[in-house]
Amino acid sequence: GDKDVPIDDLLTSPASWLDDGAYRHPDIQLPRRLYAPRKNSRGIEFGSRVELKHTLDGMAAASLSGSLEAFGAEDVEACMAKAQAAFPAWRGRDVKERASILERAADLLESDTTRIMGVLAKEAGKTVDDGIAEVREAVDFLRYYAAEARRIMVPRMLPGPVGEDNAYSLTGRGVVVTIAPWNFPLAIFLGQVSAALAAGNAVVAKPAPQTPIIAAEALALLHKAGVPKDALILAPGGAETGQALVGDPRVAAIAFTGSTATAKAINLQLAQKPGAIIPFIAETGGTNAMIADATALPEQVTDDVILSAFRSAGQRCSACRILYVQEDVAERMLTMIQGSAATLEMGDPMLPQTDIGPVIDADALSRLRDYVVEKKDQIVWQGKAPEGGLFMAPTIIRLRDDEVLDREIFGPVLHVKTYKAGKLDAVIDEINSTGFGLTFALHSRIQAVIDHVTARVGAGNVYVNRNQIGAIVESQPFGGQGLSGTGPKAGGPLYLTRFVQERVVSTDT
Ligand code: SER
Repeated sequence: GDKDVPIDDLLTSPASWLDDGAYRHPDIQLPRRLYAPRKNSRGIEFGSRVELKHTLDGMAAASLSGSLEAFGAEDVEACMAKAQAAFPAWRGRDVKERASILERAADLLESDTTRIMGVLAKEAGKTVDDGIAEVREAVDFLRYYAAEARRIMVPRMLPGPVGEDNAYSLTGRGVVVTIAPWNFPLAIFLGQVSAALAAGNAVVAKPAPQTPIIAAEALALLHKAGVPKDALILAPGGAETGQALVGDPRVAAIAFTGSTATAKAINLQLAQKPGAIIPFIAETGGTNAMIADATALPEQVTDDVILSAFRSAGQRCSACRILYVQEDVAERMLTMIQGSAATLEMGDPMLPQTDIGPVIDADALSRLRDYVVEKKDQIVWQGKAPEGGLFMAPTIIRLRDDEVLDREIFGPVLHVKTYKAGKLDAVIDEINSTGFGLTFALHSRIQAVIDHVTARVGAGNVYVNRNQIGAIVESQPFGGQGLSGTGPKAGGPLYLTRFVQERVVSTDT
C-alpha cells in the first residue's frame, strides 16, 4: 500500500524505504496512471463503501450448485447429433437476430455481475479485481462478435465478367467444438462460444474440468437470451471427453485454448481422422519476457512486473515469466520489485484486500512447488503463503547466464536475468529462440531502442512502457505465434473469419 515517507529519507537512504515496497512517494514524478484511483471500466470504485458492500454481498450470494458429470462417448455422440440437427435453423436466422441475442446475453451477464464474480471466486479462486475484469471481458466478447458478425456477414455481389452475376456470402460451417481453459473460465469460454454462434454455427462447448459450473452459468444466460438449447450444448469433461469431441466426424471447426502440448495432440488427431479437413484455432501459452533498460522508470517497471507476474497468481497465458534487466540498474530495480511484492496480500479471493488468491488445484500447486524446489539455489526472493489452502508463494528466481527459460511455468514465479549494456540483441535472440511468441513488454525511454526491439521480438502482443496482461477486446486483439498459437487473434477483426463458410454462386445472366 501507499505510505508517506519523508523526502529526506527518500534522498538519503533509498533502501530503507524501498525495503517495504512503499515506493509511491507523492513527491516523485510518476506517470499519472500510477496514481489513478482504482476504478474498473464500469465505474465501480473500491474506494466507495456502498459499491464495495454491494459487490461483496452479491458475491457472497453466489452458490456453486450442482455437479456436472463428465461426458462419455455416448453423451458426446448424442450432443453432436442434437447440435447437428439444430444447426441449419440457427445458420438460417438473420445475422442481425443472432447478434441481438448475443447482445441480450451481454446485458443479462452485466446485470448479474456481482453474483457471477462470486461464482468465479468460489470455483476458480478469482479475486475481486480479477472477477470484475473477467466479467467485463466476457461482456466485451459478446458485444464485439455480435457487431463483427453484423459487419462481415453481409451477402454481396462481386464484380465480374459481363453476363454473369457473382453472389458472395458467408454462413456458419456446422457444429463448432470449443475447448476452454480454467484460467478464464468465463471470458475465454464465452469468447469462443459467442464467436462461433455469431457466425451461425451450432456449438458444443467443453469447459475445463476444473470450472464447469461457471460455464453452465454462461450457457444458461445465452439460452435465456434466445439461443436454442440444442444449438449450444455444454459437454463437461476432461481429456477423454475432448478426444471424443475432436474425433467426431461432424465437427466443422475447433477453437481451443490451453497448453501447446494439447494443441499439438488435437492437431495430430485431426490429421489422422477420416473426413474433412477443418479449421483449428489454438491459443496456447508463452514464456513471456519483459526487458527493462537503464532508462526505464524503476517505479513503473516495478508496478508492471508485479501486475504482470504475480497478479492472478500468475495464472494468465500473458503473464510475465522472465524479466531481463540491464545490469547497471538491476540491483535497484530488483530491490524495489521485492519490496513491492512483499506488500501483496494473499488469501481469500472473496476479500477486497486480497491481491493474490489460490492457484487452481492441488496438482498445479505441487507442480509449482516442485519446480521451485528444483530451483531452490537460485531463489532470490520468496513471499510467504498463508497456511493451508492452495496458495503458492510468489517467487523470484535468478537464472544463470547460460540458462534459457524455454517452458511455461504457470504460476506466480518470476525469472530474472541481467544483461550488459550493448548486448540487447543477444537478449532478443534468446527470447526468440524459445519458439514461443505470445506477449512481450519493453521498458525504455529511448525511441530508437523501442523501434529496434519491437521490430525484432516475435510476439503477438507487444507492450511498451506498460504491463503485459489484460488485453482488451477490439483494442488489443489477443494471441501469439509459433508455439503460442495459430491465430487469428481473439477479440480481433479476423477471428470470425475462421468460423464461416465462404460461398460464391456464379449465374449466367
Ligand atoms: N487475454 C488475457 C490477457 O491478456 C490472457 O489470457 O491477460
